[in-house]
Amino acid sequence: MSRDSGWSAEQDTASALADEEGAAAEGNSRFIASAQDGPHRDLPGLLERHLAHPFRKPVLDYNRAALATALAAWRDWNPAAPLILDAGCGVGWSTLAIAAQYPDHFVLGVDQSLDRLQRAKPLPLPANALLLRADLVDFWRLLAGEGIRLARHYNLYPNPWPKIGHLARRWHGHAVFPVWRELGGVVECRSNWSIYIAEMALALSRLSGQPVAAEAYALPPGGQPMTPFEKKYLASGHGLWRCVVDFAAAAAPDQGGAAAVGCAAGFSLDFQQNPASTVDQHQ
Ligand SMILES: C[S@@+](CC[C@H](N)C(=O)[O-])C[C@H]1O[C@@H](n2cnc3c(N)ncnc32)[C@H](O)[C@@H]1O
Repeated sequence: MSRDSGWSAEQDTASALADEEGAAAEGNSRFIASAQDGPHRDLPGLLERHLAHPFRKPVLDYNRAALATALAAWRDWNPAAPLILDAGCGVGWSTLAIAAQYPDHFVLGVDQSLDRLQRAKPLPLPANALLLRADLVDFWRLLAGEGIRLARHYNLYPNPWPKIGHLARRWHGHAVFPVWRELGGVVECRSNWSIYIAEMALALSRLSGQPVAAEAYALPPGGQPMTPFEKKYLASGHGLWRCVVDFAAAAAPDQGGAAAVGCAAGFSLDFQQNPASTVDQHQ
């Protein structure tokens, strides 16, 4: 499936995202419009189904080749270095920033868009980083299949898919989501849509067995935006949101029914319920 879509029409995928980027560059990025006014009611049932049924979509060869390239580069630099994944890195600015912030880690920036990955960078790629074209839906499972545990796992400004029927396209509603628990590490997700982060926090609470807060995010004093989308949303006056969880600190959650979980945004959903889903299963 292609997740590199705009937020409106699937057939307009590339142009919608290009328009969004273009508009945002001028500081007039559209605010997200959604019929949802809180976390999707179907999220608990969908997530429980995904936890109960392993995702078996076949892995494509180009993603296996990408994994081999990644493992070789990591090994050549320092096989003992902890690994960081910048998932959906876009043009890779954040990958450069993370590599500078964690000089003793190896950082993989993965995106499905070769065009974005090839765009000019503010700095040369450091030796402890690699930008790679792959579909994360396969790449995450391949990493986990190698028994790899991440030190950190960034998901910065994922495509929001704000239509009600598109819950299963958001990462926390996707069938691949449970593999994030196997990959572990400190997971951080940011978005300009508070509901996306509220849902992500609820889903990460279920996955990690610990409360995860959905919190407003502001740049630290004197700080620079970490990604082009972050920069453009700030220039457009959007609020930013994030949630963070450390899987290393998490108690092993049970695999079956679970309790209701809440998050700082004040939302809660009952993860024991299993309502009939009205969302598409776009896998
Ligand atoms: C909204 S952009 C954000 C990019 C970057 N993180 C930033 O903040 O500037 C979302 C990115 O996710 C990538 N993406 C979406 N689905 C993907 C998938 N299945 N595999 C790899 N990359 C994906 C898109 O190509 C796009 O670059």
